[in-house]
Amino acid sequence: MSSTINGRTPEHSVAPLFLERWSPRAFTGEALPEAELMKILEAARWAPSAYNAQPWRFVYALRDTPAWPRLLSLLNQHNQSWAKEAGALLILFSKTTLVPPGADRAVPSACHSFDTGAAWGYLALEATRLGWHAHAMAGFDKARAIEDLAVPEGYMAEAAIALGRQADKSVLPEALQTREVPSGRTPVSGFAFAGKFKD
Ligand SMILES: Cc1cc2nc3c(=O)[nH]c(=O)nc-3n(C[C@H](O)[C@H](O)[C@H](O)COP(=O)(O)O)c2cc1C
Repeated sequence: MSSTINGRTPEHSVAPLFLERWSPRAFTGEALPEAELMKILEAARWAPSAYNAQPWRFVYALRDTPAWPRLLSLLNQHNQSWAKEAGALLILFSKTTLVPPGADRAVPSACHSFDTGAAWGYLALEATRLGWHAHAMAGFDKARAIEDLAVPEGYMAEAAIALGRQADKSVLPEALQTREVPSGRTPVSGFAFAGKFKD
């Protein structure tokens, strides 16, 4: 049995990094250096994907750069209220088509979102390993992200991501302070079934 980390006790032994990664909202406002972001994106680069099509695409804005207000404005008001203290913001897109091996033209991909989710997971774990935190968000304007960030046809907006240095929860408004705690999980038996689905 692995020991408790972040108030999280695993059922089975697992690498500590999986318990250390969580999604805080309290950030210090420290800018994420571009070199650090590249290391974090390097982890995303090595995610697996169907036919190795690598459908993930990131548009990023480092804090205090001209692109920052553009990306921040895409988030809904709730997410802006805390993500404004992140060190970098990313919008994650997926390419919805791929060219299968041996084919000469692109076909719709059945796996673009699944694969792009794997890239997000890798990124989040590497950010944690390097002493930063990643917080994914569905609460952003996907249509405007496509328009404002000049995304061509054939890409889907998947998620926004705040990357930053974790701060004490006291920097948050009171309502968010009570939620600023690493969450638990359902037991493995609740989502993995031997032989046949259990509802
Ligand atoms: C695709 C996705 C969308 C999410 N959207 C939001 C969001 O809009 N705002 C927010 O505060 N948290 C958001 N979250 C964070 C989740 O609430 C969080 O990951 C979940 O509660 C599990 O907690 P943990 O990441 O701390 O382990 C999102 C997470 C994911 C993966």
